Amino acid sequence: MTEKMKFPQTFLWGGATAANQIEGGYNENGKGLSTADMMRYIPLGKDGEWNGSSDFQVTSEKLKDRMENEEQYYFPHRSAIDFFHHYKEDIALFAEMGFKVFRFSMSWPRIFPTGEEKEPNLNGLAFYDNVVDELLKYGIEPLVTLSHYEMPLALTERYNGWISREVIDLYLRYVTAVFNHFKGRVKYWITFNEMNMTLLDPYLGAGILLDRCAENDKQAKFQASHHQFLASALAIQAGHKIMPDAKIGCMIARIETYPASSKPEDIRQAQFENQLNLFYSDVPIKGEYPYYMERYFRENNIRIEKRPEDDSILKMNTADYLSFSYYMSYIAKFDLSDTQSSGNVIAVIKNPYLEISQWGWPIDPMGLRITLNTLYDRYRVPLFIAENGLGAHDIVEPDGSIHDSYRIDYIRKHVEQIGEAIADGVNVFGYTTWGPIDLVSCGTHQMSKRYGFIYVDKQDDGTGTLERIKKDSFFWYKKVIKSNGAEL
Ligand code: BG6
Repeated sequence: MTEKMKFPQTFLWGGATAANQIEGGYNENGKGLSTADMMRYIPLGKDGEWNGSSDFQVTSEKLKDRMENEEQYYFPHRSAIDFFHHYKEDIALFAEMGFKVFRFSMSWPRIFPTGEEKEPNLNGLAFYDNVVDELLKYGIEPLVTLSHYEMPLALTERYNGWISREVIDLYLRYVTAVFNHFKGRVKYWITFNEMNMTLLDPYLGAGILLDRCAENDKQAKFQASHHQFLASALAIQAGHKIMPDAKIGCMIARIETYPASSKPEDIRQAQFENQLNLFYSDVPIKGEYPYYMERYFRENNIRIEKRPEDDSILKMNTADYLSFSYYMSYIAKFDLSDTQSSGNVIAVIKNPYLEISQWGWPIDPMGLRITLNTLYDRYRVPLFIAENGLGAHDIVEPDGSIHDSYRIDYIRKHVEQIGEAIADGVNVFGYTTWGPIDLVSCGTHQMSKRYGFIYVDKQDDGTGTLERIKKDSFFWYKKVIKSNGAEL
């Protein structure tokens, strides 16, 4: 007989966003330009298909062109959904759904416009004072990501982002200012969004223009990752000193990878791909570089430049919990000839047992249970599901209603699997769906890839009234939270 799933009474239900995907107000109150402000809208192809995969990896040339010809482009992250002016209305809607937690990020250049100021921009901090106080007014726990896919653009120009060790001190200056300012009000923190993104898209994950790197690409990405690991560990050290009760976590984009067949070569390939992904949680959780990377580094001519104190910084300052995003599972195959793929950030091999989203992402709720078990088995630290959700086209009916049963279905099946994992004995203390309110897509910069329980009238080209409309999923999620996961 299977056990009935039960969520702990303290389970943190809520939603997650990122500053550059919701705020707008890109130059208000002294904010500096961020790397995300330079991501441009990519018009659809003739057939209505999104055709921007070639636009990943911002280069020096693209950046220069966008700076010199600003007026020719639309930069969706600069205005986003204007949370900067709508935060009260939006937080009131989150409260109406019964959110226990709201995960959002602070924009580093809103607080340190070029990253090199000696003191924080008080007007920038004031915006987050308003947001945090508004959340606390409704009893919603704020969970802050300190760096979510953006940094002051000036640090990319001057240092080529995280490739330079100098950026560690500048990040620490920023996070220390934030910790001192918000101590006593914010308990939960994440140092970096999805640390493994530096390997997949170094501009997005680490503000790096690869064409400016003297070394081979892999060397540059792993060196930058080393700097981020150190920055994360030092932020944890500083945070614990300033706020002894704080819970400071790390985060990865979890890529649960299955072998394409029972052929040992495929199984080994899947094992390796899982290791490469878990490298990004092994270091911050276990506090050391794992054995399996040594051969990979040798064979790829990667020599990480470390200082003598680095190993003990990592060892002494491990993360309090592991958070991760989960959208889909992957398949690993040793021989990739004649392989079909889909997806828009990472090419995904088709899994014949799974349906795919309108953007080609395989939908695999049970993979979430598998991943929760994989992570808990490996680390035995509390887990937090920081992102999960379905990007889909929504239709506004003539009466203004939005019937997003597909989104309800997706989240219901994933929540069921979280319940199963809890019954398996996994310690998972919260779940924030991605984009509880529609926002700008990080991978495609579209508005039409909608994740929200709340619709925002804004279109891909920037037009729209910004009106907020509750979708069917709004009322459904409210019921889920009220019943603590019992009514799905
Ligand atoms: C996560 C990111 O990887 O995926 C978010 O942390 C992002 O920033 C989310 O928005 C969904 O991806 P996309 O490309 O659909 O926006």
